[in-house]
Amino acid sequence: MSDFLLIIGGVVILLPFFYIFTNAAPNIYSLLALLLILIPTAAALINGAPFVPTPIGAVERMLKIAKLKKGQKVYDIGCGDGRIVYLATKNHEVSATGFELSPFIYLLARIRKILWKSRAKIKFGNFKWHNLSDADVIFCYLMPGSLAKLEAKLSRELKPGTKVISYAFRISPWKEVRKHEQDNSIRSAPIWEYEIK
Ligand SMILES: C[S@@+](CC[C@H](N)C(=O)[O-])C[C@H]1O[C@@H](n2cnc3c(N)ncnc32)[C@H](O)[C@@H]1O
Repeated sequence: MSDFLLIIGGVVILLPFFYIFTNAAPNIYSLLALLLILIPTAAALINGAPFVPTPIGAVERMLKIAKLKKGQKVYDIGCGDGRIVYLATKNHEVSATGFELSPFIYLLARIRKILWKSRAKIKFGNFKWHNLSDADVIFCYLMPGSLAKLEAKLSRELKPGTKVISYAFRISPWKEVRKHEQDNSIRSAPIWEYEIK
């Protein structure tokens, strides 16, 4: 409920800026279009992170770190355009699913699925509503605040041995197996590797 109020509050605050900066004359269509963009963006921000795709070189690095094995179950919780799950199924014969909260980004991921002829699944909605207990590997690129809240869900649901690969931000208070340092040659931020005990 508090998330819902935050989203509505964010939209109400941002709305006048749109009209001031674009000089747009308010009408019902521009208002509706704007709300359709602003609400999911605000929701993604509050629930996890805005859409910032991981550079492909860094995605390949994450997949390598995960040491994926044939048949494993893989999730990207906040999958953006689906690049991680598409590359995972293409190169590693795993069963990969991405969750995406923002309708536009979800649509983009579905279009990319067709273009990539991928058998990865893309599910629309908040990953928090899904039980992740059958995961072998979880990928995430979420804001530190969301990761801190997520920690309880992952600790509760994931089985021992499950790997969690977090791009850019650590999952507090977990102790990482290894922090893979930033690599500017492939535009990769640090990658945090965890394994559930
Ligand atoms: C920083 S982007 C990362 C995208 C992708 N994983 C990548 O590495 O390229 C985070 C994505 O997570 C989505 N997201 C944020 N919170 C979410 C949630 N609670 N459930 C599902 N998707 C979420 C956002 O809409 C955004 O597309």
